[in-house]
Amino acid sequence: MTSPATESKTPPQLERDATQDSAKRDIPRPVTVRTIARFVERGEKFACLTCYDATTARWLERAGVPVLLVGDTAAEVILGYPSTIFMPLDVLIALTAAVKRGAPNTLVMADMPFMSYQADEAEALRNAGRFMTEGLADTVKIEVDRTFAPLVEKMARAGVPVVAHIGARPQQSKLRGGYGSVGRTAEEARRLVADAVTLEKAGATMLLVEATPDEVAQQIVAKTHIPVIGCGAGTACHGQVVVLQDLLGLSDWQPSFARPIAWLGEPLLAAARQWIGMVRESRLGEHPYHMSEQERKDFAARSLHQSP
Ligand code: KIV
Repeated sequence: MTSPATESKTPPQLERDATQDSAKRDIPRPVTVRTIARFVERGEKFACLTCYDATTARWLERAGVPVLLVGDTAAEVILGYPSTIFMPLDVLIALTAAVKRGAPNTLVMADMPFMSYQADEAEALRNAGRFMTEGLADTVKIEVDRTFAPLVEKMARAGVPVVAHIGARPQQSKLRGGYGSVGRTAEEARRLVADAVTLEKAGATMLLVEATPDEVAQQIVAKTHIPVIGCGAGTACHGQVVVLQDLLGLSDWQPSFARPIAWLGEPLLAAARQWIGMVRESRLGEHPYHMSEQERKDFAARSLHQSP
């Protein structure tokens, strides 16, 4: 973090790397749902990552990531809960706004947490509205099957771009006895494809398919006309999302489709240990705040003779 007195600049090497990054070059900003539709028309695959804070969002926008998901995985990754069902609505709205402030030109997708949209349609609409106004979200994501089509329709009618999350639905993990893949039987696979088609018809702006075999996502892509983001659903999907902390090697466990490609835990440990040493040995560098000679004398003299 920076403060006005100790402002630090982006390391020059990183600035150079970011501007040379070919992944960044062709993305028109701001990224909107129309930008994503154009990616799909042109057959350009797009990346999506979870993000839960403004600082990280700023770096991910610099890197050229077009879509950030403020997932309810924040319950686990940020708040330390054992499952996504514990995500408080107000906290996720606040985190969504933080991400959008950090990455104002990136499409920000907000996850609607457990029980913020399942119990009552009017409440679901109002909560989706809060994500868009207080949370500055560009789209909201809900974990659904075809029985939620009437809700998706009402949200779309109200002007809410809905991402319909199908396949594995972590908010149902208590019901199913844990996390797992979906669509490994022909019957289940057919049901998922039918869900996708129904939800598109209801007005979903995008689909997110989690933890299914390749063939299922292939069929969903073939049978629908909206962008499909995969999360462990194979390469047929137009976009791909994983939890950022999994990708960066910061998680103690990650699903097999989200293997780390960087190991940031190591430099983090090293930096924290270096800081411990610096504090213990009082090696803090030159102190930035000084008193004038006159003030110092005055301070010393009065401190000796007066109580505060
Ligand atoms: O909450 C989340 O992070 C998600 C993705 C893993 C798809 O829903």
